[in-house]
Amino acid sequence: MSHSALGTPCSILALCSADHGWGYPDLDINQDEPFPKWGGICDNGRRQSPINLHVKGSLKGEFDALKFENYDEHQKSLQMVNNGHSIQLFGFAHDLTLSGGGLGSDYVVEQIHMHWWSEHTINDIRYPLEVHIVHRNKIYPNITMAANFDDGITVLAVLYHVSNTPNEAIGSIIKSLDAIKTYDHMNVPVNVEDSLAVDDLVPSVNTYFNYAGSLTTPTCAEAVTWIVLTDTHPVTLDQVNQFKEIEYNKDKQLHNNYRELQAENNRAVVLVQQRSGAAGLMSFSLMLLLLGVFSQKVLF
Ligand SMILES: *[C@@H]1O[C@H](CO)[C@@H](O)[C@H](O)[C@H]1NC(C)=O
Ligand SMILES: [Zn+2]
Repeated sequence: MSHSALGTPCSILALCSADHGWGYPDLDINQDEPFPKWGGICDNGRRQSPINLHVKGSLKGEFDALKFENYDEHQKSLQMVNNGHSIQLFGFAHDLTLSGGGLGSDYVVEQIHMHWWSEHTINDIRYPLEVHIVHRNKIYPNITMAANFDDGITVLAVLYHVSNTPNEAIGSIIKSLDAIKTYDHMNVPVNVEDSLAVDDLVPSVNTYFNYAGSLTTPTCAEAVTWIVLTDTHPVTLDQVNQFKEIEYNKDKQLHNNYRELQAENNRAVVLVQQRSGAAGLMSFSLMLLLLGVFSQKVLF
């Protein structure tokens, strides 16, 4: 039926899977349903995501500021699709570039999608919504290729907290939801009505958690540098509930789409404070980070 439309978003974007052989337990129906095994590296990987991020147990680091280029540009040709696992936005201008911080090269925005109930938890708290801004390392030609390399992908994750004031940016995404909600519109992209700037989805980036992990959906490729912002954005529960109405099967709503927490396995999780002054303090914290990484290598 709608399979002719699969070619467009799903062959370009590895994360948009046309394979319905994997999914999430419906926690609205049974809270105790065990999380399914997704196979391969999802089950036996050593640097999987998401994880619980805790301020106390993380290394403290001070990095140069992250650099965002053109994130304030209003995107004119954005499309949105219900891929049965999430809502995904794609069709970004090619010059949205993230660099700086601990990143070794330039990363461009490939797609944005969300998880209702956050995947990462901070100090054991699960937030109602997590937005993933997926970036591809420019040195690789496409995201499929990038997923084969340690430095292939960077995901900027933004957690949302409950508020009684609707979030405008999320609101403009919700406006186009009705057109793709039902199962018969699954994998059929629509144009996003409002022109959205990626900036609108990103709060302050002054502090964030930085760690090496994986995609949180199959293939679970261990190619992701995670940047999880500690600052959260407001969203109303009513807004989050609208996402929960999208269907992944006939009359089956996707009530939750977050992966269960994965083992940290002695990975270095760095709580990064952006360096503000130009002064090149080769800081004590950075030393600690290097030592931390070193001592973990010794443990293996
Ligand atoms: C990604 O790039 C590689 C190398 O150029 C190419 O062989 C492959 O077909 C591309 N994949 C997609 C999905 O475009
Ligand atoms: Zn995600």
